[in-house]
Amino acid sequence: MYTLKPILAAIVFMAGYVSASALPEASSNIAQRQNLVPLSFGNAEWIWTDEEVGGDAPIGSRGFRYQIINPSPFILPICLTLAVAADNEYDLYVNGFNIGNDFELFETDSAFEDADIYNVPLNAEGQNIIAINATNGLLPTTSGLEDVPNPAGLIVTGIITFSTGLQEVLISNSTWLTLAAPTPANFFEATFNDAAWVPASDQGMDGVSPWGATTIVPNNVIGCLNF
Ligand SMILES: *[C@@H]1O[C@H](CO)[C@@H](O)[C@H](O)[C@H]1NC(C)=O
Ligand SMILES: *[C@@H]1O[C@H](CO)[C@@H](O)[C@H](O)[C@H]1NC(C)=O
Repeated sequence: MYTLKPILAAIVFMAGYVSASALPEASSNIAQRQNLVPLSFGNAEWIWTDEEVGGDAPIGSRGFRYQIINPSPFILPICLTLAVAADNEYDLYVNGFNIGNDFELFETDSAFEDADIYNVPLNAEGQNIIAINATNGLLPTTSGLEDVPNPAGLIVTGIITFSTGLQEVLISNSTWLTLAAPTPANFFEATFNDAAWVPASDQGMDGVSPWGATTIVPNNVIGCLNF
Protein backbone atom coordinates (compact mmCIF):
# COMPACT_ATOMS: atom_id res chain seq x y z
CA MET A 1 0.00 0.00 0.00
CA TYR A 2 2.68 2.45 1.03
CA THR A 3 4.61 1.71 -2.15
CA LEU A 4 1.75 3.17 -4.18
CA LYS A 5 2.35 6.65 -2.81
CA PRO A 6 5.34 7.61 -5.01
CA ILE A 7 3.56 6.15 -8.02
CA LEU A 8 0.45 8.24 -7.33
CA ALA A 9 2.63 11.30 -6.82
CA ALA A 10 4.32 10.58 -10.16
CA ILE A 11 0.94 10.23 -11.88
CA VAL A 12 -0.27 13.51 -10.36
CA PHE A 13 2.96 15.18 -11.39
CA MET A 14 2.66 13.80 -14.94
CA ALA A 15 -0.98 14.89 -15.17
CA GLY A 16 -0.01 18.38 -14.14
CA TYR A 17 2.84 18.39 -16.62
CA VAL A 18 0.61 17.14 -19.47
CA SER A 19 -2.15 19.67 -18.87
CA ALA A 20 0.39 22.49 -18.66
CA SER A 21 2.03 21.49 -21.93
CA ALA A 22 -1.41 21.23 -23.58
CA LEU A 23 -1.82 24.97 -22.97
CA PRO A 24 1.31 26.45 -24.57
CA GLU A 25 -0.36 29.80 -25.20
CA ALA A 26 -1.42 30.24 -21.60
CA SER A 27 2.08 29.54 -20.26
CA SER A 28 3.73 31.79 -22.87
CA ASN A 29 1.34 34.62 -21.97
CA ILE A 30 2.57 34.44 -18.40
CA ALA A 31 6.20 34.53 -19.52
CA GLN A 32 5.64 37.54 -21.76
CA ARG A 33 3.63 39.42 -19.18
CA GLN A 34 6.50 39.19 -16.71
CA ASN A 35 8.43 41.54 -19.01
CA LEU A 36 5.70 44.15 -19.17
CA VAL A 37 6.36 47.78 -18.50
CA PRO A 38 3.48 50.02 -17.40
CA LEU A 39 1.95 52.58 -19.72
CA SER A 40 4.39 55.50 -19.87
CA PHE A 41 5.16 58.34 -22.28
CA GLY A 42 8.75 57.08 -22.44
CA ASN A 43 10.03 58.05 -25.88
CA ALA A 44 6.69 59.48 -27.06
CA GLU A 45 7.06 62.74 -29.01
CA TRP A 46 4.91 65.84 -28.90
CA ILE A 47 3.71 66.11 -32.51
CA TRP A 48 1.92 68.68 -34.66
CA THR A 49 1.98 69.84 -38.27
CA ASP A 50 5.01 71.64 -39.74
CA GLU A 51 3.17 74.96 -39.30
CA GLU A 52 4.96 75.55 -35.99
CA VAL A 53 7.30 78.59 -36.15
CA GLY A 54 9.43 79.39 -33.11
CA GLY A 55 7.31 76.99 -31.07
CA ASP A 56 4.00 78.60 -32.07
CA ALA A 57 1.32 77.28 -34.42
CA PRO A 58 -1.88 78.90 -35.69
CA ILE A 59 -5.14 78.51 -33.77
CA GLY A 60 -7.35 75.70 -35.03
CA SER A 61 -7.90 71.97 -35.34
CA ARG A 62 -5.59 69.52 -37.08
CA GLY A 63 -6.17 65.83 -37.79
CA PHE A 64 -3.77 63.00 -36.93
CA ARG A 65 -3.97 59.37 -38.08
CA TYR A 66 -2.02 56.24 -37.21
CA GLN A 67 -2.48 52.72 -38.50
CA ILE A 68 -1.51 49.79 -36.28
CA ILE A 69 0.66 47.33 -38.19
CA ASN A 70 0.28 43.65 -37.25
CA PRO A 71 3.66 41.98 -36.59
CA SER A 72 2.49 38.83 -38.41
CA PRO A 73 -0.71 37.42 -39.95
CA PHE A 74 -0.78 34.91 -37.09
CA ILE A 75 -0.61 37.46 -34.26
CA LEU A 76 -3.95 39.23 -34.03
CA PRO A 77 -4.45 42.57 -32.25
CA ILE A 78 -7.15 42.29 -29.60
CA CYS A 79 -7.11 45.43 -27.53
CA LEU A 80 -5.46 48.83 -27.19
CA THR A 81 -4.74 50.77 -24.02
CA LEU A 82 -4.09 54.40 -24.85
CA ALA A 83 -2.98 57.53 -22.96
CA VAL A 84 -3.66 60.84 -24.75
CA ALA A 85 -2.84 64.46 -23.95
CA ALA A 86 -3.05 67.58 -26.13
CA ASP A 87 -2.42 71.31 -26.13
CA ASN A 88 -5.16 72.33 -26.00
CA GLU A 89 -7.96 69.84 -26.73
CA TYR A 90 -8.55 66.52 -28.52
CA ASP A 91 -11.26 64.22 -29.75
CA LEU A 92 -10.23 60.54 -30.10
CA TYR A 93 -11.55 57.96 -32.58
CA VAL A 94 -10.55 54.33 -33.13
CA ASN A 95 -11.83 52.51 -36.21
CA GLY A 96 -14.42 55.23 -36.81
CA PHE A 97 -15.85 55.20 -33.28
CA ASN A 98 -15.62 58.22 -30.99
CA ILE A 99 -13.81 56.86 -27.92
CA GLY A 100 -13.38 59.99 -25.81
CA ASN A 101 -12.22 63.58 -25.65
CA ASP A 102 -10.82 66.31 -23.46
CA PHE A 103 -12.21 69.79 -24.04
CA GLU A 104 -10.78 71.29 -20.85
CA LEU A 105 -9.30 74.19 -22.78
CA PHE A 106 -9.94 76.95 -20.28
CA GLU A 107 -9.96 74.97 -17.07
CA THR A 108 -6.99 74.94 -14.73
CA ASP A 109 -6.53 71.19 -15.35
CA SER A 110 -5.35 71.51 -18.95
CA ALA A 111 -5.60 68.61 -21.37
CA PHE A 112 -1.81 68.45 -21.58
CA GLU A 113 -1.03 68.12 -17.86
CA ASP A 114 -2.83 64.84 -17.20
CA ALA A 115 -3.28 62.20 -19.88
CA ASP A 116 -6.57 60.36 -20.20
CA ILE A 117 -6.53 56.55 -20.41
CA TYR A 118 -8.72 54.44 -22.68
CA ASN A 119 -9.16 50.69 -23.27
CA VAL A 120 -10.40 50.02 -26.79
CA PRO A 121 -11.16 46.69 -28.52
CA LEU A 122 -9.34 46.24 -31.85
CA ASN A 123 -10.25 44.46 -35.09
CA ALA A 124 -8.48 41.11 -34.86
CA GLU A 125 -8.46 40.96 -38.65
CA GLY A 126 -8.45 44.01 -40.87
CA GLN A 127 -7.34 47.58 -40.28
CA ASN A 128 -6.96 49.40 -36.99
CA ILE A 129 -6.84 53.19 -37.32
CA ILE A 130 -6.39 55.72 -34.53
CA ALA A 131 -7.60 59.20 -35.52
CA ILE A 132 -7.39 62.33 -33.39
CA ASN A 133 -8.78 65.82 -33.99
CA ALA A 134 -6.48 68.05 -31.90
CA THR A 135 -7.23 71.73 -31.41
CA ASN A 136 -4.90 74.63 -30.66
CA GLY A 137 -7.00 77.11 -28.72
CA LEU A 138 -6.91 80.87 -28.20
CA LEU A 139 -4.03 82.15 -26.08
CA PRO A 140 -5.03 83.28 -22.56
CA THR A 141 -3.33 86.64 -21.82
CA THR A 142 -3.80 89.36 -19.22
CA SER A 143 -6.04 91.15 -21.73
CA GLY A 144 -8.17 88.05 -22.37
CA LEU A 145 -8.13 85.31 -24.98
CA GLU A 146 -6.17 86.25 -28.08
CA ASP A 147 -6.31 84.73 -31.54
CA VAL A 148 -2.55 84.49 -31.94
CA PRO A 149 -0.24 81.54 -32.70
CA ASN A 150 0.83 79.66 -29.57
CA PRO A 151 2.24 76.23 -28.66
CA ALA A 152 0.28 73.29 -30.07
CA GLY A 153 0.92 69.61 -29.55
CA LEU A 154 -0.41 66.09 -29.21
CA ILE A 155 1.23 63.24 -27.30
CA VAL A 156 0.09 59.61 -27.24
CA THR A 157 1.37 56.36 -25.85
CA GLY A 158 -0.29 52.97 -25.94
CA ILE A 159 0.03 49.25 -25.36
CA ILE A 160 -1.33 46.93 -28.05
CA THR A 161 -2.30 43.48 -26.72
CA PHE A 162 -2.19 40.65 -29.27
CA SER A 163 -3.92 37.25 -29.27
CA THR A 164 -0.74 35.45 -28.15
CA GLY A 165 -0.36 37.69 -25.11
CA LEU A 166 2.40 39.62 -26.86
CA GLN A 167 2.25 43.32 -26.15
CA GLU A 168 3.75 46.19 -28.12
CA VAL A 169 4.27 49.80 -27.18
CA LEU A 170 2.93 52.46 -29.53
CA ILE A 171 3.95 56.11 -29.34
CA SER A 172 3.25 59.35 -31.16
CA ASN A 173 6.11 60.28 -33.49
CA SER A 174 6.72 61.10 -37.15
CA THR A 175 5.10 57.83 -38.22
CA TRP A 176 1.75 59.51 -37.51
CA LEU A 177 0.18 61.34 -40.45
CA THR A 178 -1.27 64.85 -40.39
CA LEU A 179 -2.39 67.68 -42.65
CA ALA A 180 -1.47 71.38 -42.33
CA ALA A 181 -5.11 72.44 -42.72
CA PRO A 182 -8.30 72.30 -40.64
CA THR A 183 -9.28 68.70 -39.83
CA PRO A 184 -11.39 67.44 -42.74
CA ALA A 185 -14.83 65.94 -42.19
CA ASN A 186 -14.85 62.14 -41.83
CA PHE A 187 -11.09 62.14 -41.18
CA PHE A 188 -11.70 59.46 -38.51
CA GLU A 189 -13.16 56.84 -40.83
CA ALA A 190 -10.97 53.83 -41.61
CA THR A 191 -11.77 54.29 -45.31
CA PHE A 192 -10.84 58.02 -45.31
CA ASN A 193 -8.32 58.75 -48.07
CA ASP A 194 -5.24 60.18 -46.32
CA ALA A 195 -2.96 59.94 -49.37
CA ALA A 196 -2.32 63.71 -49.18
CA TRP A 197 -1.36 63.56 -45.49
CA VAL A 198 2.29 63.92 -44.45
CA PRO A 199 4.43 62.73 -41.49
CA ALA A 200 3.80 64.70 -38.30
CA SER A 201 6.57 66.98 -37.00
CA ASP A 202 8.32 65.94 -33.78
CA GLN A 203 8.69 68.69 -31.20
CA GLY A 204 10.59 66.75 -28.57
CA MET A 205 9.87 63.99 -26.10
CA ASP A 206 7.62 64.01 -23.07
CA GLY A 207 8.98 66.54 -20.59
CA VAL A 208 10.09 69.02 -23.25
CA SER A 209 9.30 72.75 -22.85
CA PRO A 210 6.75 74.33 -22.77
CA TRP A 211 4.67 71.37 -21.57
CA GLY A 212 6.91 69.66 -19.04
CA ALA A 213 6.13 66.11 -17.93
CA THR A 214 2.61 64.87 -18.58
CA THR A 215 1.28 62.51 -15.94
CA ILE A 216 -0.47 59.18 -16.37
CA VAL A 217 -2.59 58.28 -13.33
CA PRO A 218 -2.53 55.53 -12.17
CA ASN A 219 1.10 54.84 -13.12
CA ASN A 220 0.84 51.04 -13.16
CA VAL A 221 -1.47 50.36 -16.13
CA ILE A 222 -0.16 47.32 -18.01
CA GLY A 223 -2.66 47.12 -20.86
CA CYS A 224 -5.77 45.06 -21.47
CA LEU A 225 -6.01 41.94 -19.35
CA ASN A 226 -9.41 40.71 -20.54
CA PHE A 227 -8.55 39.01 -23.83
C1 LIG B 1 7.71 55.58 -33.96
O1 LIG B 1 7.07 54.81 -32.98
C2 LIG B 1 6.86 53.45 -33.34
C3 LIG B 1 6.07 52.81 -32.21
O2 LIG B 1 4.81 53.44 -32.13
C4 LIG B 1 8.19 52.78 -33.57
O3 LIG B 1 7.98 51.46 -34.00
C5 LIG B 1 8.97 53.55 -34.61
O4 LIG B 1 10.25 53.01 -34.74
C6 LIG B 1 9.09 55.02 -34.25
N1 LIG B 1 9.70 55.74 -35.37
C7 LIG B 1 10.48 56.79 -35.22
C8 LIG B 1 10.97 57.43 -36.47
O5 LIG B 1 10.78 57.22 -34.13
C1 LIG C 1 -12.33 69.32 -34.43
O1 LIG C 1 -12.48 69.89 -33.13
C2 LIG C 1 -12.98 71.21 -33.15
C3 LIG C 1 -12.98 71.72 -31.70
O2 LIG C 1 -13.74 70.89 -30.87
C4 LIG C 1 -14.37 71.22 -33.77
O3 LIG C 1 -14.84 72.54 -33.84
C5 LIG C 1 -14.29 70.62 -35.19
O4 LIG C 1 -15.58 70.51 -35.72
C6 LIG C 1 -13.66 69.25 -35.14
N1 LIG C 1 -13.47 68.78 -36.52
C7 LIG C 1 -13.82 67.53 -36.89
C8 LIG C 1 -13.63 67.21 -38.35
O5 LIG C 1 -14.28 66.70 -36.13
